[in-house]
Amino acid sequence: MTITKIGKKQPVFHEIGKNVKFGKNCILRNFIFIGDNCVIGDRVRISNFCNIDRDCVIGNDVNFQYGVYLPQDTIVGNNCFFSIQVGVLDEKYPAAGRQIRKPVVFGDNVIVGGGSKFIGGIKIGDNSVIGMGSVVIEDVPKNAVVAGVPAKIISTREEYNKKKLMWENVVFKQKHNDSAKKGTD
Ligand SMILES: CC(C)(COP(=O)(O)OP(=O)(O)OC[C@H]1O[C@@H](n2cnc3c(N)ncnc32)[C@H](O)[C@@H]1OP(=O)(O)O)[C@@H](O)C(=O)NCCC(=O)NCCS
Repeated sequence: MTITKIGKKQPVFHEIGKNVKFGKNCILRNFIFIGDNCVIGDRVRISNFCNIDRDCVIGNDVNFQYGVYLPQDTIVGNNCFFSIQVGVLDEKYPAAGRQIRKPVVFGDNVIVGGGSKFIGGIKIGDNSVIGMGSVVIEDVPKNAVVAGVPAKIISTREEYNKKKLMWENVVFKQKHNDSAKKGTD
């Protein structure tokens, strides 16, 4: 394991393990730990204070916001978004004599809301959305939106996409109206 200091204007500290492979155009911010043998895809963005333990495999176009914690052997598909302080807890019965860790597998196009936690040994289906603050203790099916403690299905990805589009249109209109008003003031 080596500690590298990159950057001229301001110090950037990363701890990157051995045999870590990065794809094209990845962006790493400050204070990031990446363990040995990880494979990181193209255009992956890793924000401050993220921890990706050894032997993880991360797809293309994945965005990790501040403070994401992924333990050993986590698999993340393509085009996933992890909001702040998401954590995968791979040992169900911690501090046992023998450590029994089970990895979590995230499919493609998964959106994970801020602060969500995942127990080891589950699969998170393609196109699913995890509401902020969820505690996910069982598999999430494809195209489902889940939320709560423990996380339960609350809607579908299709419904989420519709709401997202409506919300974006409302915000866009508001901004447009505000700037039009400013112009006439
Ligand atoms: C999951 C999410 C997308 C659902 O949004 P939505 O489809 O508009 O859902 P609604 O607000 O209409 O709520 C539907 C139901 O789910 C519940 N619910 C919604 N989000 C929840 C959450 N995170 N945890 C627990 N329950 C939640 C609501 O209480 C409501 O329950 P009810 O039907 O019993 O009243 C949204 O709440 C969320 O968590 N977004 C992620 C935010 C985030 O982390 N952003 C990161 C930006 S950097």
